[in-house]
Amino acid sequence: MDVMEVIKARRSIRKFKKDPIPDEALKKLLEAFKSAPSSKNTQPWRLVVIRERETLRRLADLTKYGKFLAEAPLAIAVVACPKKSDWAIVDATLATYNMVLAAAEMGLGTCWIGTMDRERAKELLGIPEDMFLLTVIPVGYPAEVPPPTPRKPVECIVYYERYGRRVPTAAVAA
Ligand SMILES: Cc1cc2nc3c(=O)[nH]c(=O)nc-3n(C[C@H](O)[C@H](O)[C@H](O)COP(=O)(O)O)c2cc1C
Repeated sequence: MDVMEVIKARRSIRKFKKDPIPDEALKKLLEAFKSAPSSKNTQPWRLVVIRERETLRRLADLTKYGKFLAEAPLAIAVVACPKKSDWAIVDATLATYNMVLAAAEMGLGTCWIGTMDRERAKELLGIPEDMFLLTVIPVGYPAEVPPPTPRKPVECIVYYERYGRRVPTAAVAA
């Protein structure tokens, strides 16, 4: 698949098959993550790969909308290091999306889990106090692929030259 196909095919997956994630696939996900750009190349991030069922269950309990985490074969906690960069959260988010797209390209499902008791989740995973637990991403082969969620049309979100100007102007040569 080319990039655009992957972008369009990706869905948030909330139901996973029990099949384990091959080591090669995990390696590719981590490679995709670390290949992301970051401000001044600070790479202000760390990942925790979680396969222990009990930890996945306990983490799931700490989320508001991520109970399905308990059934995923694997999850990756994304940690941003705000002490290393003012852009740590942006950088870690970009890198996470690299990983999400790489997963989709391999036929793996993921879902961004955002709302959780971060302090208790950090404690469970042994994440240092001064780090920010950005998200926990479950990874697994989809047992269910939901239909595409709607998006606003381009015309509704794009302006030209000035905010609010809906009509495109002809390209202006420098
Ligand atoms: C910052 C962020 C937080 C999210 N948190 C959750 C969450 O806690 N639980 C969940 O099931 N989905 C979560 N999602 C997934 C969104 O619900 C999903 O991306 C959106 O509905 C669009 O669907 P799609 O990803 O299938 O295109 C989150 C997505 C983002 C970007």
